[in-house]
Amino acid sequence: MIIDTHCHLDFEQFNSDRDEVIRRARAAGVFYMINIGSSLEGSAKSVELASEHDNIFATVGIHPHHAEEIDAGSFSETETLAKKERVVAIGEIGLDYFKSPSSPASQKELFVRFITLSRELGLPLIIHNRNAHRDTCDILNRECQLPVRGVVHCFSGDRKELDEVLSLGLFVSFTCNLTFKNAKGLREVAKFVPKERLLLETDAPFLAPQAYRGKRNEPAYVTQLRDTFAELLNLPKGEIEDITTANARNLFGINI
Ligand code: NI
Repeated sequence: MIIDTHCHLDFEQFNSDRDEVIRRARAAGVFYMINIGSSLEGSAKSVELASEHDNIFATVGIHPHHAEEIDAGSFSETETLAKKERVVAIGEIGLDYFKSPSSPASQKELFVRFITLSRELGLPLIIHNRNAHRDTCDILNRECQLPVRGVVHCFSGDRKELDEVLSLGLFVSFTCNLTFKNAKGLREVAKFVPKERLLLETDAPFLAPQAYRGKRNEPAYVTQLRDTFAELLNLPKGEIEDITTANARNLFGINI
């Protein structure tokens, strides 16, 4: 059994065949999925999906790209959503300095507000960081009690950055970009994640694995990431599933 800990089945890319995609995931052994809220509308859809499917959990958050669209009113709507059933984390939230339409100042402000909310609700964080490693770590260090209960999603940093997020106590999650032919450097870094901190995700519809590169990704394909880790760590595929499923249960407090 595998858990895809980060997918966006609420996105329009799944409008024509969402139920089929969910069925294919189960058939591939991906028994559970965590659908990630990345906007106000997406968070609401995420909560709705989780209420309709017993194999989907939801998170509530605003991607840093949308930081400037959020005012006090819309933030309070996310607070209401975050208290709904089957919401297992706050995210994705964080900082993205790569061509972002929102200023770093607005991103930092929203990030801190969500960290505060996660503390109030006792929920873990799903952290998005692109080209903003220093500020992300500084804010977490300042705003959170260590160890930080959360995960750095789609990890793509170097060894030094990995050590720093591990020292904050965070889990580390990889997407199917680890399967890319040209991701040799990232695979070398991934070997150093302690087994008890490792999570698997697709980030579907984005980042389809090498075999489907450039196409739409979907939760069933997280099996290819499992296979890459089995090879990388020289462990049976079943053990990768057991380890990462136990970690997801542990971080998100889900009883499955
Ligand atoms: Ni995502």
